[in-house]
Amino acid sequence: MAERQLDPSLDAGQAPYLAQQRASQSLVFDQLVKRYAMAYGDRPEQIRAGTWLAEHLGPGARVLDVGCGTGVPTARQLVNAGLQVVGIDISAAMVSAAAAAVPEAVIYNCDVLNLTETGFDGAVAFFSLLMLPRSGIAQALSVLYEAIKPGGYLLISMVEADLDDVPVKFLDTDVRVSGYQRDALCGVVEQAGFGIVDMRVVAYTPAVAQADPEIHLYAFARRPHGDRESE
Ligand SMILES: C[S@@+](CC[C@H](N)C(=O)[O-])C[C@H]1O[C@@H](n2cnc3c(N)ncnc32)[C@H](O)[C@@H]1O
Repeated sequence: MAERQLDPSLDAGQAPYLAQQRASQSLVFDQLVKRYAMAYGDRPEQIRAGTWLAEHLGPGARVLDVGCGTGVPTARQLVNAGLQVVGIDISAAMVSAAAAAVPEAVIYNCDVLNLTETGFDGAVAFFSLLMLPRSGIAQALSVLYEAIKPGGYLLISMVEADLDDVPVKFLDTDVRVSGYQRDALCGVVEQAGFGIVDMRVVAYTPAVAQADPEIHLYAFARRPHGDRESE
């Protein structure tokens, strides 16, 4: 396993920039609740990933859904599998949608970089970390490492792309996104201290006429049980 590292580019001076950018990113999905669900509603690989997590953790496990969006499909699926789900999202509109769709879950408005809850058996971050600059993704992975118990799992999905905080049009809305090629994504996850368990790569075409086909990466990772010497 790679040595666990904090991104050296994260200095205190970056915090105001990140906070300001995240505030504007939170508004993006406030406008996109319905359109996102229509364009990206059918993601069989994400369902398979949720099934994998539920089977590996078992009923009663406590799971964090980072950037839970509308709560559908993943928070809904994990609750149906008997897991205790906590969902966080920076978009107030997404939080309202998820709370209505998955009332059994605890859903609240929170930026992953400000998360203080710990003790999770697992976490998922499906297509949410891509809205951070790469420096913020490294920071978020460190937060999630602390939030997940030793031996717990982290599942991340991203669109495969070599980008750092680049402005793009997403469903006709301006947004800034980051991405990695598959090997680089594994490297970033390992640098945060996780071991890679699996990487699944799937082609995906959103259900809107003007959207280009995408390559989706699903990284399955695990926080080691003990310190590196005892692994
Ligand atoms: C592309 S949507 C994916 C939603 C859901 N995970 C799914 O798979 O359908 C990304 C979500 O992540 C949220 N998000 C983006 N940056 C975030 C952050 N720093 N902390 C928490 N949520 C964030 C957005 O508001 C949005 O709801």
